[in-house]
Amino acid sequence: MAGDDQRAWAAMAQAARHAIDYRRGIATAETTPAASYADMLAAFAGPVPENPGDPERIIGELVERATPGIRASTAPRFFGWVIGSSHPTGVAADWLASAWGQNAGNLVAAPASSAIEAVAAGWLLDLLGLPAEASVGYVTGATVANFVCLAAARSEMLRRVGWDVEADGMFGAPPIEILIGADAHATVFSGLKYLGFGAKRVTTIETDAMGRIIPASFEQAVRANAGPKIAILQAGQINTGASDPFEEIVPIAHDAGAWCHVDGAFGLWAQASTAYRDQTRGVALADSWGTDGHKWLQTPYDCGFAIVRDAEAHARAMAISASYLPGSQGAERDPSAYVPELSRRARGFGTWAMIRQYGRSGIAELVERNCGVARFMGETLALEPGIDLVCPVVLNQFMLRFHAEGRDVDALTKKVVEQVQADAVAFIGSSLWRGQWVMRVSVSSAATTFSDAEVTVAAVINAWRKVSANPVAPA
Ligand SMILES: Cc1ncc(COP(=O)(O)O)c(C=O)c1O
Repeated sequence: MAGDDQRAWAAMAQAARHAIDYRRGIATAETTPAASYADMLAAFAGPVPENPGDPERIIGELVERATPGIRASTAPRFFGWVIGSSHPTGVAADWLASAWGQNAGNLVAAPASSAIEAVAAGWLLDLLGLPAEASVGYVTGATVANFVCLAAARSEMLRRVGWDVEADGMFGAPPIEILIGADAHATVFSGLKYLGFGAKRVTTIETDAMGRIIPASFEQAVRANAGPKIAILQAGQINTGASDPFEEIVPIAHDAGAWCHVDGAFGLWAQASTAYRDQTRGVALADSWGTDGHKWLQTPYDCGFAIVRDAEAHARAMAISASYLPGSQGAERDPSAYVPELSRRARGFGTWAMIRQYGRSGIAELVERNCGVARFMGETLALEPGIDLVCPVVLNQFMLRFHAEGRDVDALTKKVVEQVQADAVAFIGSSLWRGQWVMRVSVSSAATTFSDAEVTVAAVINAWRKVSANPVAPA
């Protein structure tokens, strides 16, 4: 047994060494993996192992087989989806969370994890300019954060009309109207689905050219019917980066008795910078907020925060009670009262470490640098003939379209995205915006500098020139 332990310690050291070497070389890593999903299936395929394995060999094999299929999403010129850089300090804290093997579900089983969650929750509220009395649940990401917040909203809106949804469920419950912007993120509809609202049973509110809810349309819709309502707003539209005009909308919603939830997966972090806080003006007036740690806070995956002003509604919707669980002890925060799971990862360690790493000024600098880089890239690329910036750059996300005479703009745009990915100097993805294909750029990584932006601008122009110089294939 002692010999086995020695092999396991060696495997841990080997994994740490490999991880450090990998991150040391990330700046020059190709942003498109050499192997496909099919290659990876073939690399890992095989029958169930019949006998125990050797720890060092297992980790060695894992590294060898996985490496060709690892996407360098922590690289400085990675602009796909909305992905943070998994900062090494956060990764190190997360290693410890795993090594300590803490089950973050209760404060007796995990005192340090429970306490650090309580402390980091206060820091998050302070940094994001949200009410100090709000509760924070540590979840996997914004999808689950939105779901948790909407569960709290459902509980409270039904309680106000005399219905106990936790006890009596949704069959026979008074209907709740859901108001949502036409450019909301797809994952919010998953929350609606899980909660029995139905992803389609919503009142869709018209948005402007940036995807922001139009206040007059919202006002008309929210006043149209009596009864309980939940309005789902957004800080940071996935394609444009724009936020809803909270300062105008939230008071209208409250006046009509609606709960306001904000999906702020990345955009809520504009609150951490005095230069960009204007983008999210009035967001603190809302009732709940979902956001991510693994995007702008750069924690490793996975990490998100479900934040609810009415902590009692939050706990009513989520708390688990059982005779063998300590639950909350007086004023102490019960870590499982604000999340759907009981046993879970201790995400407080990584959150605390990343806030300690950057501090208030570092987080503000990061948001400002990423937004500055996005603006520089978008505006520089738009100077090139044939490249259009679809909307002004207001935060860290922007879109481009590519056009040449006699060529289909959608097809051309998709081809340029493919060419950029094939050249592998930078990774950028595509998206559909208002029925049209765009190249969608997200600047969300702490690793990205203005020099990376210059290299990427050159790579996009190069790809564009290659694609536009190619004659159109005959139909
Ligand atoms: C606006 C918005 N909401 C929700 C999500 C889902 O977040 P997650 O993938 O962390 O669950 C995203 C992801 O990019 C997003 O941009």
